[in-house]
Amino acid sequence: MTDDLLFNQVLIGVFIAAVLVTVILLLIDAPYGKHDRDGWGPGINVRLGWFLLELPSFAFFLWFYLSGDFRFALVPMILFLMYEIHYFHRTFIYPLQIRVKPGAKEKILLLAMGIPFNAANGYLNGSYISTYADHLHTIAWLTDPRFIIGVLVFFAGFALNKQSDAILKNLRKPGETGYKIPYGGGFKFVSCPNYTGELLQWTGFAIASWSLAGLAFVAFTAANLVPRALSSHRWYKEKFADYPTNRKAVIPYII
Ligand SMILES: NC(=O)c1ccc[n+]([C@@H]2O[C@H](COP(=O)([O-])OP(=O)(O)OC[C@H]3O[C@@H](n4cnc5c(N)ncnc54)[C@H](OP(=O)(O)O)[C@@H]3O)[C@@H](O)[C@H]2O)c1
Repeated sequence: MTDDLLFNQVLIGVFIAAVLVTVILLLIDAPYGKHDRDGWGPGINVRLGWFLLELPSFAFFLWFYLSGDFRFALVPMILFLMYEIHYFHRTFIYPLQIRVKPGAKEKILLLAMGIPFNAANGYLNGSYISTYADHLHTIAWLTDPRFIIGVLVFFAGFALNKQSDAILKNLRKPGETGYKIPYGGGFKFVSCPNYTGELLQWTGFAIASWSLAGLAFVAFTAANLVPRALSSHRWYKEKFADYPTNRKAVIPYII
């Protein structure tokens, strides 16, 4: 199989998977965090699980990016840094920061489903940027409105995601294990601003790289996070009688 054929097949596979995952996750809550429950097989340490789940995103992108002829071109290097700053944090730092409930486990089933798709996204975006994307290999792209807007959207999402994850982490004081209503930042508008931020980030990345690989990544992220946000929003409203009524799930004023 040629490299181009493999790339196209993986790309199509991720788009198809995004549709299937959306349907499945609208019907079944993925069994972790607020929606954790028995009956989904064995699990492993939660911090180790996060690390193993996210490592392929970081490592496959790194490997395939560095394999491309245009790895030292300016625009690809900027996109490389945007992607890898996020995934360095998510893989090596975030798992150490979360406050894990005693007895919580990361289901091996979820890892088995998530790892191949994270690897596929890392492969598609890393190889696209430093190998296939002719438009990214000249510095003219630096002043293209799509690049400028995409970078701004990416960093707006990055800031919202990190702020929201920090608010959630600080809800539990050392030794606490339960759930509370989060306030402040994006929580004024939606129940899951960390997901809103993540979606903005990868939308910005897709615009800045102007690529189907980036679009596939957004589609797969939305497939995971929009159904999750809808079920977490329902969960908050059922659990807390005083939950703010003006909040939406993930997109302010809309859903
Ligand atoms: N790109 C993708 O496809 C993708 C997919 C999934 C996640 N992510 C990203 O990964 C990060 C974590 O995702 P997640 O699904 O684990 O987010 P989450 O359900 O909001 O949980 C994040 C952390 O905050 C804790 N927490 C959540 N709500 C809480 C509350 N009301 N009170 C006290 N603690 C609370 C959770 O504890 P518990 O674990 O005990 O609930 C967990 O440690 C997010 O930034 C998300 O955007 C990305």
